[in-house]
Amino acid sequence: MISWNDFCRYASELLLKPEYIEATRPFFESLDPALYDRLSAKGYEGIPEIKAAFPGEEYRRFLLIMGISSWPDMLALYKERNYTPQQLEDIRPDLSFWMEKSMADVGFPGLEPRIYEWVRAVHEGRILQFGRLQCNHRHTFVGKVACFENPDGTVRLEECPEHREDALFSFGDPAINLHIPAAGPLKRALCIDSLRKIVDFFDRTQTDFSYKAVVCYSWILDPVFPKIMKSTNLADFQKLGHLYRLEGYDETNEVVWRVFDIPGGTPADIGRKPWNTGMRRAVGEYLQQGGRFNEYGLIILRRELPALLASE
Ligand SMILES: CC(C)(COP(=O)(O)OP(=O)(O)OC[C@H]1O[C@@H](n2cnc3c(N)ncnc32)[C@H](O)[C@@H]1OP(=O)(O)O)[C@@H](O)C(=O)NCCC(=O)NCCS
Repeated sequence: MISWNDFCRYASELLLKPEYIEATRPFFESLDPALYDRLSAKGYEGIPEIKAAFPGEEYRRFLLIMGISSWPDMLALYKERNYTPQQLEDIRPDLSFWMEKSMADVGFPGLEPRIYEWVRAVHEGRILQFGRLQCNHRHTFVGKVACFENPDGTVRLEECPEHREDALFSFGDPAINLHIPAAGPLKRALCIDSLRKIVDFFDRTQTDFSYKAVVCYSWILDPVFPKIMKSTNLADFQKLGHLYRLEGYDETNEVVWRVFDIPGGTPADIGRKPWNTGMRRAVGEYLQQGGRFNEYGLIILRRELPALLASE
């Protein structure tokens, strides 16, 4: 188990607010180092045991300590891979955004299992960031849709659960998969700038990775957002490429968590939080009318990137 001094150093390098570090202190100091070492050695697989040992929501504090402990591994990895200082600076605040989410969700700094897994992916270099957007280091497309060229040169999407050799892009093809950190408004210009950096990184340094498209899978891609939101950022984001629906993924409860900060919540719970932002009001009214949200995907073909990147 790391020392309290190292924990404080790593946490502040990860831009955690001093009050969040201090809030973790009583739990940290109460931990039996041998128990910590035994449980944390199992990584993600040890989580059921960690939950049993720290009931209620306290296990989140344990996972935060585990997450923060792997920060030096990430520094070593970035050095080994010759990543630029800017890459490190871009992704450095990621954990601090999740701490704000934890404060909103449960009122103290911690990590739930899914976000612990995310932090691990960041620290292991499986998730990278370039400006506003993040992406996987490697990704294989899992959307059950294929892109074909029409006789007039436009692109059409067809439902297709398998890889198709005759398609421009389909299930199983290599792709750059985007993620959106909670770093404020999702402005189109920032996204284009970020895409430019991502494409430059892959084209320059990952020449063995012949990606065929840039993709994204997300609740924010549901085409209902442009209809209900005053802000046009999500509409602009959705227009970056071709949208398709991921069948069988009802994201309604995910949106309740993402927008109303109610872990495990359902539309019946949204009255528990103030409708104090534009998105909360838009989503709240839509849910009140019986609306549901679905997961959608976005595809920007590699051949479409030059025109898109020149457009801003
Ligand atoms: C995705 C995201 C960047 C979209 O933001 P955006 O559409 O650019 O939002 P805007 O800045 O235009 O905000 C419009 C309004 O909605 C609010 N809003 C935006 N995202 C919100 C959220 N997740 N929860 C509650 N309110 C939110 C803003 O506060 C603003 O309110 P105001 O009009 O009262 O000032 C933002 O929701 C976010 O950071 N989400 C968390 C990360 C995430 O879910 N990523 C996708 C993972 S799959």
